[in-house]
Amino acid sequence: MNKDREECRFLKACRGEEVDMTPIWLMRQAGRYMQEYRSLREKHSFLTMCKTPELAVEVTMQPVNRLDVDAAILFSDILIPVEAMGIQVEFTEGKGPVMKNPVRDKISFNKTHLIEPDDVSFVTDAIRILRSELQGRVPLIGFSGAPFTLASYIIEAGHSRNFLLVKGMMYQAKDLYEALLDRITDIVITYLKAQIEAGVQAVQLFDTWAGALSPDDYETYALKYSQRIISAIKPSGVPIIYYANGAGTYLDKIKQVGADVIGVDWRIELDKAWTTIGTDLKIQGNLDPVVLLASKDEIRRRAEGILDRAAQRTGHIFNLGHGVLPPTPVTNVEHLINIVHEYSKR
Ligand code: CP3
Repeated sequence: MNKDREECRFLKACRGEEVDMTPIWLMRQAGRYMQEYRSLREKHSFLTMCKTPELAVEVTMQPVNRLDVDAAILFSDILIPVEAMGIQVEFTEGKGPVMKNPVRDKISFNKTHLIEPDDVSFVTDAIRILRSELQGRVPLIGFSGAPFTLASYIIEAGHSRNFLLVKGMMYQAKDLYEALLDRITDIVITYLKAQIEAGVQAVQLFDTWAGALSPDDYETYALKYSQRIISAIKPSGVPIIYYANGAGTYLDKIKQVGADVIGVDWRIELDKAWTTIGTDLKIQGNLDPVVLLASKDEIRRRAEGILDRAAQRTGHIFNLGHGVLPPTPVTNVEHLINIVHEYSKR
């Protein structure tokens, strides 16, 4: 495989340039659906794996070595900078992340603090090792949670169904909400700048819970913080992907975030989403992750359908609409990657 060409495919698509075939990578491409991951995970806790550069490097490389993905994504978690700002994070088996000291009032807010790049040196160390280990085979993507999504975890203390507490703070303690979101925004800027400095070649902002907000509330309580992050890191020149889950009904607002690439979920047709965000922006998506549990024929039909909607236009990066699910057969992921590459060959 021509390494230079491969390195360029994903980054070229982020810039809207011609590519030999549509690049593909998958959110959560490292994880429990892979035997290699489960074996390592038996020996270490999830947070230990995130915080030990050698282990984070190994896990990041697992999908790159096993699958023909066009990018690597740093193995870490969006809650790493949350812990660095003074909030105790626990990953309990089967329960997802839990924050031990959520921010709900001025007192708990005052116990949080800004971060220094040194506070997350295990992340920047992992990035440096990865760049040398990857040797340009594929580019490395760094990431952060977007402020609203991080605030949801920080305020709710974990997963939430109705977002009562975070919306409660918005509607009833706006000053506190804004102070917290401003602090998170500063932290994310420090965090992403450190990752870029260490060598990531693109970054993705995950706004996983954006879909919980009405369009107006998204505009008032979420958009401006992500905009501030993106304008702060724009001068670095690395492509910026903004992924919002469940926000297909207000892509007209999402497009204003200032990202180069917008990641969309499966609840909207790719061409319809692209028309709304405008074809000057690039698009990433958008296969329903559950399709990877269907038959090989169904996977082919759905993948080709998405590629047809991209109409062989430049600036499409194939991805799922959300992360790979743990019961996904690896052979189905291999099958998807082959279809995307073969069917989109120019
Ligand atoms: O994409 C990648 O391969 C990079 C690694 C990555 C992980 N989490 C690894 C992970 C990335 C980019 C994330 C981001 C993340 N983390 C998000 C945003 C993206 C999304 O999925 O919506 C969110 C909301 C989190 C918070 C988080 N971390 C949750 C809700 C969970 C529990 C979910 C579960 O499946 O148990 C995690 C844990 C987590 N993050 C795992 C992995 C591989 C599973 C940990 C384990 O081994 O038990």
